[in-house]
Amino acid sequence: MISITFLGPEAGEAAPRTVSAPPESNLLRVSLREKGGIPFKCGGGLCGTCKCRVATGAENLDAIKPKERRHLTEAELAAGWRMACQTFVQQGAVSVTWPAPPPKPGSAAA
Ligand code: FES
Repeated sequence: MISITFLGPEAGEAAPRTVSAPPESNLLRVSLREKGGIPFKCGGGLCGTCKCRVATGAENLDAIKPKERRHLTEAELAAGWRMACQTFVQQGAVSVTWPAPPPKPGSAAA
């Protein structure tokens, strides 16, 4: 089994959540099944919504896909950013975070 820790949105205060899954699991599919919280829209590498940063365990992921290169710069890829719907966890443990959602209108402190 592999282990995936969902750290929550960056700079957020969500409690990390660790789940188990079979080897070669798709990162977004595990997030959906386990309510990990990674944002998504298309699930097919088109929209870019599932952009996430692998904080630890990047060596346990499969190779970066051409679809990911359309949404991520070389600097982002080097910093551990991936597209969750295109990324498979092959073995071991990873932890992942993602951009915080933009503040809702009217929710900012006055
Ligand atoms: S969910 Fe649209 S690119 Fe991953």
